[in-house]
Amino acid sequence: MNILLLGSGGREHALAHKIAASKLCSQLFIAPGNAGTRTCGTNVALNISNANDVVLFCVEHAIDIVVVGPEEPLVHGLADVLQQSEAIKAIKPNFFVVGPGALGAQLEGSKAFSKQFMQRHGIPTAAYAEFTADNYEAGKAYIAAHSLPIVLKADGLAAGKGVVIAQTHAEALTTFEQMIVGQQFGTASSKVVIEAFLTGIEVSVFVLTNGKQYQVIGHAKDYKRIGEGDTGPNTGGMGCVTPVPFMNDAFMEQVTNTIIEPTIQGLAVEGIPYNGFIFFGLIKVGEQPVVIEYNCRMGDPETEVVMPRLQTDLVELFLHMHHQTLDTVTIAMNEGAFATVVAVSGGYPGNYPKGLPITFNEVALRDMPATTVYHAGTTLQQQQVVTNGGRVLVVTSSATTITDAVALSKAALRQIEFAGMNYRNDIGYEFAS
Ligand code: AMP
Ligand code: GLY
Repeated sequence: MNILLLGSGGREHALAHKIAASKLCSQLFIAPGNAGTRTCGTNVALNISNANDVVLFCVEHAIDIVVVGPEEPLVHGLADVLQQSEAIKAIKPNFFVVGPGALGAQLEGSKAFSKQFMQRHGIPTAAYAEFTADNYEAGKAYIAAHSLPIVLKADGLAAGKGVVIAQTHAEALTTFEQMIVGQQFGTASSKVVIEAFLTGIEVSVFVLTNGKQYQVIGHAKDYKRIGEGDTGPNTGGMGCVTPVPFMNDAFMEQVTNTIIEPTIQGLAVEGIPYNGFIFFGLIKVGEQPVVIEYNCRMGDPETEVVMPRLQTDLVELFLHMHHQTLDTVTIAMNEGAFATVVAVSGGYPGNYPKGLPITFNEVALRDMPATTVYHAGTTLQQQQVVTNGGRVLVVTSSATTITDAVALSKAALRQIEFAGMNYRNDIGYEFAS
């Protein structure tokens, strides 16, 4: 199979690593990729927001499967364009995309769409209401009467910045005004979802589905705050662990029965085509799992622990998804605990420099077989690996316990240097053994 993977983060490096390990993969292209993905396949300079360029590439390179990493092209309908292309079909009649079309991607692309979907199917989620400029005054009254804290969400994609947890009514009203009247996130905030604040531990669950059948391919706990002890501003994710001790059979059964199955059935009943990953962002409220959000893709850095733990061949799973045989599969997981620690640029999640050289003590790292260094924001400049983003490297290790896995990743990070490098020392702290 010739496979084209779209994206350039740590998630894509972990996916590329897993896809390249499949005996079903003959050629892997990553567009645009990063300095790490080139060790798994061929990086190609392709503008993935230009659907025509992606179609042309698929035709020229006889691509069998396109795997879409990030949400943005999915929400903009890239999967529909590829799936409907006669040019691709002419050379590859069984061509398919891993990633939903624009309608399915609305699960992530519109908070109001996903909340309405959950309500229609009785899926547990925080109580909410949605507002636009048309019922702006009603929104203000809704906020004034609401308990605190109160959560405001821009309806559309806002690069992870569209959620505000307001501690006072004044802050909530100002945020509401900025989003609706000030168009803080452009059209993404012309509709705002206002919802109740939930207290509990968050966990991410990952499913591969064809909209009728599904398999759970893993779960992880993500550490979102920049600072140790979960303090400071939110980031894209500073580390992850899996398996999470409270994700036992009883809790997973609740997640399956009250969330995953009603979601898949909801897609089927409503005739929403869906081929790809669903990332269930959950929160454990008391003993009950509740949905905070859906994403139409894998998580980052969750993928960097979910893929190493997954033993089953990922390309085989893609084929089962496509051939409607996902229900015949038994998923196998590797033994042990997996943890990842993210090395970020100095200043992140605020402003940070780019282009700083990264040095790796290759000899020491080669002696660490339980550790993989995934690249996120890196690129090559005259044969030198340099920083190219906020999250730079994502270092995953496996061990018997979460604590040992984290210790291995931190030992590996001590063999890597770039100016201003920062990482959290306390990933997995609540599961210390
Ligand atoms: P989202 O973009 O919906 O994932 O929201 C980003 C983050 O905001 C989540 O990962 C949670 O940490 C937090 N969050 C969102 N909604 C709620 C809620 N209803 N209650 C508590 N925290 C929330
Ligand atoms: N780590 C959270 C995400 O990928 O959205």
